Amino acid sequence: MESLALYIHWPFCAAKCPYCDFNSHVRDRVDHAAFAAALRAELAREAARANAGGVRRPLASIFFGGGTPSLMRPETVAALVEDARRLFDPLPDLEVTLEANPTSVERDKLRAFREAGVNRASLGVQALDFAALSFLGRKHDVQDAIKALEFARETFPRLSFDLIYARPGQAEAAWREELRRALALAADHLSLYQLTVEPGTQFATLHARGAFSLPDGDDAARLYAATAEEAARFGLLPYEVSNYAKPGAESRHNLAYWRYGDYLGIGAGAHQRLTMPDGTLLAARRHRAPEEWLARVERDGHAVTEEEALTPRDRAREALLMGLRLAEGVDPARITARSTLPFAEAVDLRMLDTLREEGLLDWRDGRLVATRDGLLRLDAILPLLLN
Ligand SMILES: C[S@@+](CC[C@H](N)C(=O)[O-])C[C@H]1O[C@@H](n2cnc3c(N)ncnc32)[C@H](O)[C@@H]1O
Ligand code: SF4
Repeated sequence: MESLALYIHWPFCAAKCPYCDFNSHVRDRVDHAAFAAALRAELAREAARANAGGVRRPLASIFFGGGTPSLMRPETVAALVEDARRLFDPLPDLEVTLEANPTSVERDKLRAFREAGVNRASLGVQALDFAALSFLGRKHDVQDAIKALEFARETFPRLSFDLIYARPGQAEAAWREELRRALALAADHLSLYQLTVEPGTQFATLHARGAFSLPDGDDAARLYAATAEEAARFGLLPYEVSNYAKPGAESRHNLAYWRYGDYLGIGAGAHQRLTMPDGTLLAARRHRAPEEWLARVERDGHAVTEEEALTPRDRAREALLMGLRLAEGVDPARITARSTLPFAEAVDLRMLDTLREEGLLDWRDGRLVATRDGLLRLDAILPLLLN
């Protein structure tokens, strides 16, 4: 039976960062008790569906994401972890991650989150440079970030943090130096994202006005190569486009998405992929606006706005789209297992050969992998590759 990954979304932040298009909102007041009750209600409902047939599904990971889940009350996190442990069959090494912002207020709550059952922290550091943090509109400074990292390292068995690079005017030497300082802080996992300008954000407006420009393709590629080189010196290897880990420290939760496993998504705007006992794979999405999400859960017990059974072709496309992001690539047998389509029916084998000759895809140990050039063009490759 497919094990489950559980995502829990907290849709609030202390301030909206100018680059961010996540489902995150700033509110003067949040009714914590009502949101906690609604999250628990959605979890109970999805557990009943996931466990249809009377068997408790194995649970491999829980991920509190956002928004800023470190603004949650620790007792809400504790209640949800406890519910999940009771409702499912938790694997002995259940991974429980919480995203935290490194402001001093949230640092003081880290111990309570550990006591609530969180065993992996993911800190949104974003930069270790004063000017960059201010450009990114962050509410913490470099010292806050370092203190939060040190405290998190003492508190949690596993630690990851995010940095954003390929920032305007960022020189390769300066990025290497900043990244080395970050790597010396001894996390076992890093998410290193190139800055993107997302539609609808404050950065989109500023960028359109010419207030800043991003490094061009060649510069970004050089920064990407430098990133992998520096990470490797500290024993962190890229296992996905933006994710680096010491062997064995990969995020099990995110691997479940990329390996196209089943996942439940609870909370405003969360997505879900759930295999039903008859083999149907249901894709669901919840209402994005926090207040409307809450009202719907209070009224109906859930806030699912769309749910559809994915066709075999949808499944093959999603499994390839996710799997080709991974350094390990995709096992054709997995595509078949998840889509019900033989590999030769799911993909155009002649086109696959052409893409291989063009140096965009490759076979490695019986698995299909995207080359570096291929990764940069995944969106264009997939429609060609799929039958
Ligand atoms: C939901 S946020 C992380 C949690 C937390 N709210 C925080 O900001 O620290 C996920 C991560 O995506 C990255 N991110 C968001 N928008 C981005 C963008 N436009 N370009 C690059 N990275 C971005 C940031 O590194 C951020 O930490
Ligand atoms: S980057 Fe994090 S803190 Fe900033 S708005 Fe997005 S979710 Fe909130």
